[in-house]
Parts: sequence; structure tokens; C-alpha cells
Amino acid sequence: MTQTEYLTPDETGLTRAVALLRAGLCVAFPTETVYGLGADASHDQAVAGIYAAKERPSFNPLIAHLPSLEKALEQGIFSHEALTLAKAFWPGPLTLVVPVCATTTICELARAGLSSVGLRVPNHPIAQKLLAQVDLPIAAPSANSSGRISATAAPHVLEDLHGRIAAIIDGGETPVGVESTILDCTGEQARLLRPGGISREDIEAVLGRRLEAQAPVSNKPLAPGMLTSHYAPRAAVRLNATDIHPHEAALLFGEIEPTGVEQALKITNLSPTGDLQEAAAHLFSALRLLDTSGATTIAVAPIPNTGLGEAINDRLNRAAAERDT
Ligand code: TXA
Ligand code: MG
Repeated sequence: MTQTEYLTPDETGLTRAVALLRAGLCVAFPTETVYGLGADASHDQAVAGIYAAKERPSFNPLIAHLPSLEKALEQGIFSHEALTLAKAFWPGPLTLVVPVCATTTICELARAGLSSVGLRVPNHPIAQKLLAQVDLPIAAPSANSSGRISATAAPHVLEDLHGRIAAIIDGGETPVGVESTILDCTGEQARLLRPGGISREDIEAVLGRRLEAQAPVSNKPLAPGMLTSHYAPRAAVRLNATDIHPHEAALLFGEIEPTGVEQALKITNLSPTGDLQEAAAHLFSALRLLDTSGATTIAVAPIPNTGLGEAINDRLNRAAAERDT
């Protein structure tokens, strides 16, 4: 057990965070998507600290965060499409999995032994400042215990990780609310590995073609990051609910009210006006809130699968999947 330092996102806080990261310790920080649990990606022992704090299966590789495309180019080999995508969407909620290059400083443990690496340049101002100041690639998975709901606010991080990490920088709520979109750019044509904060439609517009469908979800280590049972609240999750059963909690979207909603133990609407961006921003905090209602099941109303709806439905499907443990 360590005492987790609470840092404010000012010069003092950032200087302290940089010192802790350089000393090989774990610091949680806000990004535009969710909070990340950061550590020096070039340092095996620092990265081991992340796996330990999260109790994460060690075959699951981590994303390395960098302050700029220029810095990212020192870590991986960018195909023509990867470069086009980086220029279009960085800084922003997009992760590119690229082959590592000879100059990479990202250690094998962060890559889980793979010859590819996930790179991301976040656009959150606090993450930007931290990455520029620390001048190291920072490995950062979402700052939650492995398999649990991602954290979009500092108290959520502390619920899972208090006493297990050196510090947290409190930057308030994260604006996007779902993790970055991940594209596999190890081949000539980029493929979608995980839907996220940049919609498929926006990526397809830049590529000028359709993105290949996501590989089937499974619990095999061969499909890292695609663990079926992920983002799991304690309660069971029932999808596409058009009616609410007694003793359920209800997660709604838009104006349509499922029948029996008045029986719900607790009700939250992700976006009463049906705005998918707003819904993404509220998704994880809504799941956490409903999970405290005492309901054994969270019933989720149908959510359209366009734009950020693809990322929202992906997370909800994983939350509803059969649990491993
Ligand atoms: O928005 C985000 O991406 C957040 C913030 C903190 O940046 N991070 C995040 O990290 O969601 P994490 O570790 O929870 O999810 C990253 C996913 C993992 O599931 C991992 O398997 C996949 O990225 N990944 C990382 N490197 C990979 C690689 N070389 N090949 C395939 N998948 C990779
Ligand atoms: Mg995660």
C-alpha cells in the first residue's frame, strides 16, 4: 500500500507528476477519452507497476502516449495510411498500432512481447503538458482495475486504485468519455480493432474507403484488447431493453421511454435529446451510478449504431458479456 498523492493540474502538480514518472512510478492523469494510468513505457519495472496496480493480464499490450507526431515517428514505422490518419486526427482520440522501428525505446513488457506498438497523441491540455514535460513515452491503459468500468473522473480512479498508485492529477471529467478508436496499421490497409472516440464515418471519409469490419471478439490472448468480458459493472447488463422489469436499473437514451420504466430502482438517461456524443461522455459514469442502485440487472435501451454509437454499443456488449471471473 502506498499513499496516493492528489495533484492539481498546475505547474506544481505537473512538476511533481513528472518527477514521479521519471522515478518509475505510476501516475493517473486525464486524457480527452478516459483517465490513463501512466508509467514510463521505456522502463520494464515502471510498466510492471501498471500491470500490478490494475491486476491486468500481462499478455494485454499497452498504448504508448506521446506529445506529438514527430515523437511518435521515433517509435514506429508509419505506412502511408497511418501517416494520413495521424495527420488528420492527432492530437486526438485515435490509437495507431504500427510495427516498432529500430529506434523504439518502448520496452517489450509494454508491448507484451509484440513487434507492434499502439501509439497515441492525446489532445487533452493536461496530458499534452505532462507528455511534453516528462519527455518519455508514457504507457497508459485506462485507470481502472482490469475488466472494470473505465474512469472518466478522478474519484472513479481512486475508487479502484487508491493506495495502489503513486499519484493522480485531477483534471475534472474527461470530455469524450469512451476510449480512443484503435486502428491496426501493421498492414497496407488500416483495420478497425476497437471503435472509440473517432467515429468510423470520420475515418472512412479520410481514407476514402470502407474500414474492414472488426475482428470477432474473443477471450483469446491472440486478440489483445478485445477481451469479451470487459467494462463490467457488478450488476448484470441486459441490452436492447424495450421494457423494464421490476427491480432493474434503467439506462435510457433519447425520448422513448421503455414500458415499465416506473418500476426501475434507478433511472439515468445518457442523452434525453438523443445526442450520441453526449451519451458517450456519460456512459461510464452512468454505469457506475446505476451499479450503486442495488439492482441486480441494468436494463439498457436500444442505442443507434452510427457515429459514436458504435463505440458505445461495443462497450455495452462487453459489459453484458459472460464474465470470466
Ligand atoms: O483512450 C484510450 O485509448 C485510453 C487512454 C488512457 O489513452 N487508453 C486505453 O488503454 O484505453 P487500454 O490499455 O485500456 O486499451 C488499449 C488497448 C488494449 O486493449 C490493447 O490490447 C490494445 O489497445 N493494444 C495496444 N497495443 C496493441 C498492439 N500492439 N496490438 C494490438 N492491440 C494493442
Ligand atoms: Mg481499458
